[in-house]
Amino acid sequence: MPEKMVTISGASAVLWILFAASQAFNLEISPEYRMVAQIGDSVSLTCTTTGCESPSFSWRTQIDSPLNGKVKTEGSKSILTMDPVSFENEHAYLCTATCGSGKLERGIQVDVYSFQDLEIQLSGPLEVGKPAMVKCLAPDVYPADSLEMDLLKGDHLLKTQLFVEEVKKSLVTKSLEVTFTPVIEDIGKALVCRAKLYMDSEPTTRETVKELQVYTSPKNTVISVYPSRRLQEGGAVTMTCSSEGLPAPEIFWSRKLDNGVLQPLSGNATLTLVAMRMEDSGIYVCEGVNLIGRNKTEVELIVQEKPFTVEIFPGSRVAAQVGDSVVLTCVAVGCDSPSFSWRTQIDSPLNGEVRSEGAKSTLTLSPVSFENEHSYLCTVTCARRKLEKGIQMEVYSFPKDPEIEMSGLLVQGRPVTVNCTVPDVYPFDHLEIELLKGETVLMNKYFLEEMSMKSLETKSLEMTFIPTTEDTEKALVCLAKLHSGEAESEPKQRQSTRTLYVNVAPKEVIISVSPSPILREGSPVSLTCSSDGLPAPKILWSRQLPNGRLQPLSEERMLVFTSTKMEDSGFYVCEGINQAGISKKSVELQIIQDSPKDIQLTAFPSQSVKEGDTVIISCTCGNVSQTWIILKKKGKTEDKVLKSVDGAYTILKAQPQDAGVYECESKTEVGSQLRSLTLDVKGRETNEDYFSPELLALYCASSLVIPAVGMIIYFARKANMKGSYSLVEAQKSKV
Ligand SMILES: *[C@@H]1O[C@H](CO)[C@@H](O)[C@H](O)[C@H]1NC(C)=O
Ligand SMILES: *[C@@H]1O[C@H](CO)[C@@H](O)[C@H](O)[C@H]1NC(C)=O
Ligand SMILES: *[C@@H]1O[C@H](CO)[C@@H](O)[C@H](O)[C@H]1NC(C)=O
Ligand SMILES: *[C@@H]1O[C@H](CO)[C@@H](O)[C@H](O)[C@H]1NC(C)=O
Repeated sequence: MPEKMVTISGASAVLWILFAASQAFNLEISPEYRMVAQIGDSVSLTCTTTGCESPSFSWRTQIDSPLNGKVKTEGSKSILTMDPVSFENEHAYLCTATCGSGKLERGIQVDVYSFQDLEIQLSGPLEVGKPAMVKCLAPDVYPADSLEMDLLKGDHLLKTQLFVEEVKKSLVTKSLEVTFTPVIEDIGKALVCRAKLYMDSEPTTRETVKELQVYTSPKNTVISVYPSRRLQEGGAVTMTCSSEGLPAPEIFWSRKLDNGVLQPLSGNATLTLVAMRMEDSGIYVCEGVNLIGRNKTEVELIVQEKPFTVEIFPGSRVAAQVGDSVVLTCVAVGCDSPSFSWRTQIDSPLNGEVRSEGAKSTLTLSPVSFENEHSYLCTVTCARRKLEKGIQMEVYSFPKDPEIEMSGLLVQGRPVTVNCTVPDVYPFDHLEIELLKGETVLMNKYFLEEMSMKSLETKSLEMTFIPTTEDTEKALVCLAKLHSGEAESEPKQRQSTRTLYVNVAPKEVIISVSPSPILREGSPVSLTCSSDGLPAPKILWSRQLPNGRLQPLSEERMLVFTSTKMEDSGFYVCEGINQAGISKKSVELQIIQDSPKDIQLTAFPSQSVKEGDTVIISCTCGNVSQTWIILKKKGKTEDKVLKSVDGAYTILKAQPQDAGVYECESKTEVGSQLRSLTLDVKGRETNEDYFSPELLALYCASSLVIPAVGMIIYFARKANMKGSYSLVEAQKSKV
């Protein structure tokens, strides 16, 4: 507080004491007449003379009390300093100056006061809606009878007071109190405390301003829980708390213990709890706190036990083959430290190896045997809880594909028996065997007999059928199905397939002889054999020996004699052979001695005649019977058969064109003979009589005329007697 001096003009209360003085000698005091000084300050009164060489000064109070100050005089000036100002300085002070005989005096009234800064006091933080007391305090006031105090809220005057009590010489504290109920609109308004101290016509004013802080107590404290108040063991939860209030409340999380005590957890609005255990269930409290209040709310979290289940693998049933290895697995879900035990339903030995680790236990059955055909039970104990799961072991054996056996070769029309065998089956009362030819089921059998004991059995299905060639390339399938005990599951299947190939035994053998089975010695002959069958039969030519045995000759279809001998006569056998059978046939070859050269062709009178002569060309065949005689004249392009009478052809008047080669051919069963001569006609003159020879076929004079049809029948009969004799071939060679 800076020193403050109040100078008051006017001279109403000033005493004037005038002593004799010269005109020139003068005294002044400053300030004049009156001074108002604040207690504790330092003030000075100054007396100054004029018109005197060396004045002397003296200071006193009117009532002659102590000065309570220090005087300092220097030349024409004397200063009275009061430091600090106190109640004892409230006097009328006189300054006397003496100059020789002259004496002057001046007086001044010193009044003191005290007026400190004002204080505003509140009964507490202002809360909306709650009456509160505001106190405006003016400490150490003097003189208290000239004080006026005002209290304002913004522009609104709350209270004013003028203090008029009797004054004692002491510092007193004055205050002004107001009770009001803050509203939210008061926030930011100014609370003003103002005081005026009237010491003179103009009062001294002090003012203190305080900005209004209005608060609201926390309320509407709300907790949101994510994902849920109900949790599973091991789960996590996040809770967020909010609370309304001014200033914004701080959030405190705590947990309510069983005895009601709150255990602090966090000062963060968001509280995340992880790996929750059952013991973490309970009441969680959130409190919103600010300087004027608190509001709390609570939430109950329920941590539920994890659901505990037992699973068994590979399923409720498992089928395992004898000799295989099977692992049954039992898994506990939702249990931290489960304990396992295995047993069979009928409490027989497990016949397997148990291994348990963590949440899993396995039972290994290796190798699987009939002793493992049980219901296995896995019991899991988890704390107080106990669960059991079962698995039905089905033991089977079905190790090999069926075997197909045939009683023999497949031959068309010959019954054959098929035997389909399924080895080492268990349980055979679930076995079904089916035989199929192509798409057609030939036979089907369920083996429903009683099972007497647990053992591997070999089962077979047999059936007989007559193959036909249409069966070739078809598949013969033996399908074995081992049905499961469980109706809905697919049966196990194994199958074997044979592709059918149906043989055909060789059919009747056909032999053809060319040119003829009766031959003249030295002439060639070929015997051709054929036979149908599946597969194509092999051909074997043999000669039948006199003792009836066969002497193999050739495996070619054709047996060729380039030049036959008499010894070649006999029976020749051709066999058609394949795996399905043999067919045979024989043919007789007759070789006859070469006949005498008895055909004669003559020209009479001569082979050389003159034009116009008569010539007889005659062909005679001696004693050979049944001979064809053909008389021909060779032509350039073709031969002309001449019409002869008894083998004689007469040219009445020979012409040059009759010259040429004449041939006589005789044919018998064993061959033909040919004779020829050349006729020469010597020309004399041109003969107009042209003679065209007629066509003629003749028999020898000694033979009978046999009609053509009769010939055919004759040769056909002959062919039948000697085996297969090609009529076509025969005719070709005879005509
Ligand atoms: C918290 O505030 C609400 C109003 O928002 C009130 O109903 C509740 O009683 C309060 N709770 C406490 C514990 O003060
Ligand atoms: C509250 O938690 C959030 C998220 O976990 C974090 O970002 C924030 O700093 C925390 N506040 C306090 C006051 O701890
Ligand atoms: C079929 O084959 C099985 C096994 O080889 C055999 O035991 C059974 O006797 C056979 N059946 C016939 C009719 O051959
Ligand atoms: C044919 O004549 C020959 C002699 O030339 C004779 O040996 C043969 O016996 C005769 N045959 C007939 C059937 O007359």
